[in-house]
Order: sequence, then structure tokens, then C-alpha cells
Amino acid sequence: MSLDDLPVRGDLRGKKPYGAPQIHVPIQLNVNENTHPVPQEVAADIARALGEALTDINRYPDREFTALREALAGYVGGDVTADNLWAANGSNEVLQQILQAFGGPGRSLLGFPPTYSMYPLLAEGTGTAWVTAERGPDFAITPDIAVAAIRAHKPDITVFCAPNNPTGTGVALDAIAAAFLDAMARISHVG
Ligand SMILES: Cc1ncc(COP(=O)(O)O)c(C=O)c1O
Repeated sequence: MSLDDLPVRGDLRGKKPYGAPQIHVPIQLNVNENTHPVPQEVAADIARALGEALTDINRYPDREFTALREALAGYVGGDVTADNLWAANGSNEVLQQILQAFGGPGRSLLGFPPTYSMYPLLAEGTGTAWVTAERGPDFAITPDIAVAAIRAHKPDITVFCAPNNPTGTGVALDAIAAAFLDAMARISHVG
């Protein structure tokens, strides 16, 4: 029996499971991993905390992840509080939740290829259209490129991947600010 024998959604029929190649080389840039190993003392600390946590896993954990979000807020500092932070099982889950809430049928997600290969897959899984715009020289996304792409596509969500997978390039803060201000202007115009 194969997946195609099951009553899979028509738009997902024939798709292959996602999988970035797992290549055994010293620097595995294709999966955006940290190239540094976990320090011994950090590993020991995690093992100790895990040992303590195991004693009450007969109960569901705090579903708001309060202790984690408060600790993260302390780490980030400034005006950031736990209320501004969102914890999930990896950033793929955050991306999926954003698409579930703000994407979906009749809505679109804008990205700038070459970029993270999961964006179109997560869009597809949530019935969101994946629309793209070109980057400038050296894979840059300038404020003009960001705003022009958003005006042309009118996406419901835009992703700026930084550092971008697979190019390793950053995104200038002024490009994000320009996109944000443009989107806010459109929202207040619509509202
Ligand atoms: C740009 C980017 N975002 C998100 C992820 C997924 O990361 P996580 O393990 O946090 O779900 C990856 C993994 O390669 C990535 O390259």
C-alpha cells in the first residue's frame, strides 16, 4: 500500500515527503544548523533539568510555556515581555501557525527565492497561495524591492528569511521597516 491508496486530499496527492539531504560533512549549511557543538556544561545542565522534569510528566506541561517565555523575555531584554513571545516546537511550527491564522484558501504568502524550501510546502499544506518576487544583486532585498513586491502581490503574509537559507545573506532592517510601514498604511486605509 502507498500513500496514493489512502483518501489523501486531492491537492496533496502525488507529493513526496519533505527531506533536506542529511550529508555527513563538517559544515552542513543546507539545514541552517549551528556549527558549534553543545558545551559540556550546557549538556549537563539540560540533562539535570530533564531529570527533574521527568518526575511529573504524568501531567500535561503548562500549555502557555510561561516559565520558558519569561526566561526568553529576560534574555531578550528591553521592553520585551513574555506577552510578546511565542514558543513552539521549532520555528516550523511557528510558521505553520502563522499560516493557519493569517493564510489559508484565498490568501497568499510572499517570499523571495532562493529561500527556505519549507515556505511553499507549509503554504501548500494550509491551502495558502505561494507567490514570489526576485531579489536584487547579491541576493539583496532592498526597501524598494520589498515594497514593490508587496504592492504588486498584495500578500497576506510576507517572509523575510535572515540569515537566508540557502544564501546565508541577511535582510537590512530598513527593508523590513519599509515593508511593515507600507503594510500598516494599507491596513489603516482598508480599515
Ligand atoms: C530558514 C529556516 N527556518 C526554519 C527552519 C526550521 O527550523 P526549526 O528546527 O526551528 O523548526 C530551518 C531549518 O533548516 C531554516 O533553515
